[in-house]
Amino acid sequence: MIKDKSGYRKDVAFIDREKELAFLKDWINERPESLLFLHGPKSSGKTTLLYKFLEQMEKEQELDIKFLNLRKIYTDFSGDFDFKDFLNIFFNVEDKGEKKEKLSAGINVGFFKIDSEIEKKMQQGKVDPFKVMEREFLRLKKEGIKPVLIIDELQALDNIYMNNGRDRRLIIELFNFFVAMTKESHLAHIIIASSDGYFINTVYTDSRLKKSSKFFKVNYLLKEDVMEWLLNLEKYSKIKDYTLTGEDAEKIWDIVGGSMWEIQDILSDLFRAPLDEVLRLYKKKMRNLIVDYVVRPEQKKIEKLLRRLKERDEFSKEEIDPEDEGLLRDMVRQNILYFDPTEAMYYPQGKSYHHGIRLYFEKSLERGK
Ligand SMILES: Nc1ncnc2c1ncn2[C@@H]1O[C@H](COP(=O)(O)OP(=O)(O)O)[C@@H](O)[C@H]1O
Ligand SMILES: [Mg+2]
Repeated sequence: MIKDKSGYRKDVAFIDREKELAFLKDWINERPESLLFLHGPKSSGKTTLLYKFLEQMEKEQELDIKFLNLRKIYTDFSGDFDFKDFLNIFFNVEDKGEKKEKLSAGINVGFFKIDSEIEKKMQQGKVDPFKVMEREFLRLKKEGIKPVLIIDELQALDNIYMNNGRDRRLIIELFNFFVAMTKESHLAHIIIASSDGYFINTVYTDSRLKKSSKFFKVNYLLKEDVMEWLLNLEKYSKIKDYTLTGEDAEKIWDIVGGSMWEIQDILSDLFRAPLDEVLRLYKKKMRNLIVDYVVRPEQKKIEKLLRRLKERDEFSKEEIDPEDEGLLRDMVRQNILYFDPTEAMYYPQGKSYHHGIRLYFEKSLERGK
């Protein structure tokens, strides 16, 4: 086994994203006017893109970045989520001496820092948390620092949003505050990222964000980028143990398309087994994943919905029976399907899921014969 200097025989690749990085850069160089929703299927590279972007921007200008990963934060809470937890997401009491987390050399995983006095008053309802946030933005503005607030993995709030009217109102209030900070007072850049386009759409509709937000889709890689990567494994992934031919690369593209996480997964497997074997097992795995999802009491209904995707790539919200919406919602939540909030379209989470769905029907047809 040949190793590179870091001691790994395979490294994390970062391919392309020129267009996406340029978009974000333009956006941050304009005075804040709207909320930005970054959406795209699971593992389409949203978080990685944001990190890369922040790393680049930090070298160029003075930013104050508050990056909240809700999945990470929310899973820290146990039991019922309440107003106190909500405050804990956004505020960090400085005199508790908690240590600051860092994303990269300079990017703080920032919260709004407050002292324990303010915290107490907020909990008693004597101080409005949104006012505290606004004051912080104003302070930064005065110092010539651009505030950037990023909320990643918004879907982590899905549960509390759906289950509790009070929490829902709180979240809607939060979004109204974001609108005030962007569209109305132009104080801060606010980016919301999520792989659950359905939930984004719900929040967007409930909070009436039509004229105050912008959507940007982060999708899997294009074919030309995948080819560039796979034909230059040493350059992008530091892999020296094997190379791939054009034909091999085409085969991988056919199964997983531009899904980077899955490409990385296949590249790892290739240390141990030949390509055809790896891909055969991969397809089998994807079929099993669909079987695992489908086999339950609602099987017939789920099959009816998924069967549409046997010959087609997608279907629109108008095509579905309103009574099936709940099931589709669940398929999106479980990352079987993706819902694109700008096109109101459902489609498989990625190419490999589409293979899984087709194989499911082929095999069940065979069994039915
Ligand atoms: N531009 C890229 N090139 C190669 N791999 C990438 C790229 N962006 C992301 N990845 C990989 O894809 C996986 C998912 O990325 P992530 O940013 O977590 O997706 P998301 O936040 O959209 O769910 C990670 O393993 C990451 O290393
Ligand atoms: Mg992410």
